[in-house]
Parts: sequence; structure tokens; C-alpha cells
Amino acid sequence: MHKRVMVALDVNSKTEALAMRDALGSSVGWLKVGLRLFVAEGPSLIADLTRTHKVFLDLKFHDIPNTVAQAIESAGGLGVQMVNVHAGGGKPMLEAAAKAAQAFPDMLLIAVTVLTSDTMPKEQALKVALERAKLAKDAGLDGVVCSVHEAGQIKEVCGADFITVTPGIRWGNQDRQDQQRIADPKMAVEHGSDYLVIGRPILHAKSPADAATEAVTMMESASC
Ligand code: C5P
Repeated sequence: MHKRVMVALDVNSKTEALAMRDALGSSVGWLKVGLRLFVAEGPSLIADLTRTHKVFLDLKFHDIPNTVAQAIESAGGLGVQMVNVHAGGGKPMLEAAAKAAQAFPDMLLIAVTVLTSDTMPKEQALKVALERAKLAKDAGLDGVVCSVHEAGQIKEVCGADFITVTPGIRWGNQDRQDQQRIADPKMAVEHGSDYLVIGRPILHAKSPADAATEAVTMMESASC
């Protein structure tokens, strides 16, 4: 189960990122590099992280098809195992991204459907997420980022092999902060999430490795 946990390295420097990587050790399989860290430290950090973990480059590309395709090629050159685009970019952009990603068979390409922080009503989020997931599937992407609340229906419509990556994970009495559509690790597994993205509940824990292990234990208690 730990191989299905992605820790969002939302820290500001390479020093902090490597310290967190070391603190986590082998308690999780993936590290996620997002806007904050990538803008601060750039590609050289990626090489350090891919030595010990799989890396998800979460930059949510959203631009014209040609620009996004070129960005996917650059991401592939960094040796990351997952990269994403925003499905709001439309079908031609998704198709261009999928075509560019073909040169990197070991890199998964996924699309953000609706941000888990979006305040739109749940029913509307589900509708939009399903539409965008179908679009991504038709364009040849490997899966989507969605909330746990949409993961099951996306699997039903797009197939069991279509990957679902779910942020918005909280458990116990943790603060939801800016997240809206949250769920705990057990529920995430039961609803068909393949990968759980966890940031602040692990980053701000006294022991990040213990918090990660706690999440994994809850995943293992899932009834499926
Ligand atoms: O700290 P927290 O667990 O809320 O972090 C969630 C992570 O997932 C952040 O890095 C955020 O950028 C990312 N993310 C998200 N919702 C999406 C896609 C990515 O929260 N739809």
C-alpha cells in the first residue's frame, strides 16, 4: 500500500525537500513536486529525488497544444514517472500531450479534472469531473486527478485500468484547510483511488514517517 502514497513536497527549498525525503525514507513510494518547489529549485532537484523514489511532476500544464506538448517532452527528459496537464485545456491539447508522452513509455500522463479545493457543489464537480475524465480517456491519457468522491464513478465509466490520483486526504480531526472534497485513506481505497496524494497531514506531522505509516495502516484496513 505504501507504494500508492504520494507525498506532496510543498516546501520551498531543495534543503527542506531532501530533509523530508530522508525523514520519509521508504515509508512511501512517491514524492510529488509541485509549483512551489519546482519554481524555487528547478530540474536539478528532480534528479536527486528520482534516485530514491518515483516522482510525480505536478505542474498542471494548461496552454495551447504545441506549448503543452513541448513541456511534456521536457518533463519526460527529466526522468519523472508521472506528469499532468489540466483537462480544462480541451481535447486538442490533451491529444497533443498524449502524443508527446508516447516517447516516454515509463512516464504516466494524467489530467486534472476539478481541483479538490474548488467550491462548486459536489454534484456539479462530479458531472464536470466525469466529462473531463472521458475526454482524457478518449485522448489517450493514462488517468486523472480527482477527488475520492468521483474516483469510483470515473472507474465505472473509463475502466478499472484508468488511473485515479486523489488529493484532499485527511483523517482523524485534521483541519481540511483549503481542501473541499476530502476523504480519509481507508475511504480513498474503498472508492477506487489508485494513488493518494498527501501533503500537509504528513509534512506538518511531528514524525512524517509515522504519519505516512498511519495512512498506510488505514489503507490496509479498507474492505476491498
Ligand atoms: O496539503 P494537502 O494534502 O492539501 O496537499 C494536496 C496536494 O495536492 C497539493 O500539492 C496540491 O497542489 C495538490 N493537488 C490538489 N488538488 C488537485 C490536484 C493537486 O490538492 N486537484
